[in-house]
Amino acid sequence: MKGVVIYKGKYGSTAQYASWLAEALYLPIIDIDSQPAEGLAEYDYVMVGSPVYVGKLLMKNWLLNNQSNLQHKKVFLFVVCGSTSGNNRMQEIILKKNVPTGLLKRMEAFFLPGRVVISQLSWFDRMLLKFGAIWERDPAKKQMMVLGFDGVKREHVNRLIKRALRYSNAEILQ
Ligand SMILES: Cc1cc2nc3c(=O)[nH]c(=O)nc-3n(C[C@H](O)[C@H](O)[C@H](O)COP(=O)(O)O)c2cc1C
Repeated sequence: MKGVVIYKGKYGSTAQYASWLAEALYLPIIDIDSQPAEGLAEYDYVMVGSPVYVGKLLMKNWLLNNQSNLQHKKVFLFVVCGSTSGNNRMQEIILKKNVPTGLLKRMEAFFLPGRVVISQLSWFDRMLLKFGAIWERDPAKKQMMVLGFDGVKREHVNRLIKRALRYSNAEILQ
């Protein structure tokens, strides 16, 4: 079973999760910003990593453009964001809005806690969060948007690693 980790991030948290996965599963890793994700045909499963920015997955267009390349593959999507704690409704909306329907039915999605370090954000992203915080009603979320947060931990990929191992071992045994 051959797999690959493909991701796009902005401030490093998705890249961190992607490299933990690649390291644990001995998979090649592709950052689509620096390397084209070519040769997908040779892989049996693909682990796609994306953060959420204002409700949009940074991998949305890539998923759309690669629907046919992913058609006969197992896809594990890991979404890195702020909406991970018991927020199933929000997660459903993110998936529905960003993942082509055919792919959504077949893939498995995992939501992993991300990170925001306010001082590292671009001026534009800082403004987006600042204005977003004004409208946010949930006090906990508001605080995260104002002060930043860091939920990135190695242990969060354990479930995904186990699932990928179970998948590739089951396929080998068949
Ligand atoms: C401007 C901005 C907008 C964001 N919008 C959302 C959002 O709509 N939903 C969410 O759950 N998280 C949101 N986040 C949190 C990011 O998804 C999170 O910080 C993630 O870890 C970023 O990944 P990266 O470090 O790989 O770029 C936002 C963060 C920033 C800075």
